[in-house]
Amino acid sequence: MARDGQGLEVSNAGKEAIASLDFLRDEWLGFGNRLAEFIAAADKEASCAMLPVMAANLSLSMYSNDSREAARRHLGRAKGLAAEANAREKAWLATTEAWIDGDTDRCLAIHEQMVDEWPRDLLAGKIGQLHAFNAGDAEALLRIGERLFAANQDNRYVKAIYAFGLEECHRLDEAEKMARAALEIDRRDPWAHHTIAHCLEARGKMLEGIAFLQSMSDTWESCNSFMYTHNWWHLALFLIDLDRADEALGLFDRRVWGVWKEFCEDQINAVSLLARLELRGVDVGGRWTDVAPYLRPRLHEHFVPFLDLHYLYGLARAGEQSPVTEMLASLEDRAENTKPFEREAWADCTVPAAHGLAAYAKGDHAEAARLLGQAMPHLPKIGGSIAQRSLFGAIHLDALMKSGWNDAALKILQADDRERPTVPWTKRSLGDLYRRVGRMEQALAAEYQAEQLARQYAKGRPT
Ligand SMILES: [Fe+2]
Repeated sequence: MARDGQGLEVSNAGKEAIASLDFLRDEWLGFGNRLAEFIAAADKEASCAMLPVMAANLSLSMYSNDSREAARRHLGRAKGLAAEANAREKAWLATTEAWIDGDTDRCLAIHEQMVDEWPRDLLAGKIGQLHAFNAGDAEALLRIGERLFAANQDNRYVKAIYAFGLEECHRLDEAEKMARAALEIDRRDPWAHHTIAHCLEARGKMLEGIAFLQSMSDTWESCNSFMYTHNWWHLALFLIDLDRADEALGLFDRRVWGVWKEFCEDQINAVSLLARLELRGVDVGGRWTDVAPYLRPRLHEHFVPFLDLHYLYGLARAGEQSPVTEMLASLEDRAENTKPFEREAWADCTVPAAHGLAAYAKGDHAEAARLLGQAMPHLPKIGGSIAQRSLFGAIHLDALMKSGWNDAALKILQADDRERPTVPWTKRSLGDLYRRVGRMEQALAAEYQAEQLARQYAKGRPT
């Protein structure tokens, strides 16, 4: 029986099939831009089921109707080659089928079992983490990382995978240490860069975050569009919090939008960055109308609620009223027909959040505050990372402030300021709110601190 580079048995595999599977593992875990080469190899493969089954998983991770149809074709071919499939390969077939059916709860359960039984199967862990991520299950994200790490302690990809699970469970010190340990093995690990960006963002260490990401950005040229645009997106977030929104807008034009406009991940990075810039008062010009045509085909997809909310907001800000209305109705149908495990995500969160975002985009701030307020307690269930989801919290906060719900807004801002006391915008907004509620002493203190921080950051700004 042939074995891949991780020592896993692969049925009916010749040397080329093993080389392709090893290539896929490194390329996927390293976020490389040559994954299409694996699809081509899988299309040619005539005996080993693992190639088409992994091609199906790769297609599914693209989250579009076309890629799901491609996955169906790959899975059909895999089943035709699977007469001698071993237990691990049967598990892959089962999880792929469940993913095509939209049964991500079952996918996650299968991946957790796979990681228990075959912890050397790194893609079983990586894709398991993807399902956990989309379900907003941070504990599962961490569990998978822990199990992989226990069996692959010297593997830099595994350290980065584990580090992200730690970060999403708020274990920031351990996460950063683990990600930096991955970089000691190979400084080019973009997923480790990404986790460190999350850790620094969560602590409000913007200057450190920019210096770190800039120092690693030379290694991202061979990354796929998701990783490339997403790490630059993280750098833009640091710039926005340093009152350097003009530079963040420049990054949008040069790095974040335009690599692969048809890809969902590029689209949500773009929507999220434009939205965050507008929240800080930046005029983004005609950029929404450039993004919107790529969102229009996605009205009825509903792969992951977190993706849908970005699409909807992008369309709403572009003024595409008819697609927005159609998508809102489609989301309501999706929520009504949902499976029990995803009811909270679609019905309790996504539907009110989507209506709230549409209201906010039209300037109906009181309605937006009310609807987003309903959705907020359920927000982790929509999937995505803490940093990504924070966009919706920021829009909710802005709606509260603009509609005069001062006490509610104040509580959120005070919590933000406790977590990240280094952001001038938070201090300025606090100052504004304290003034509105007549707490002048606190208003003056917050405004003074905002000025001090802004002055300090202006000194370090490149000229
Ligand atoms: Fe991220």
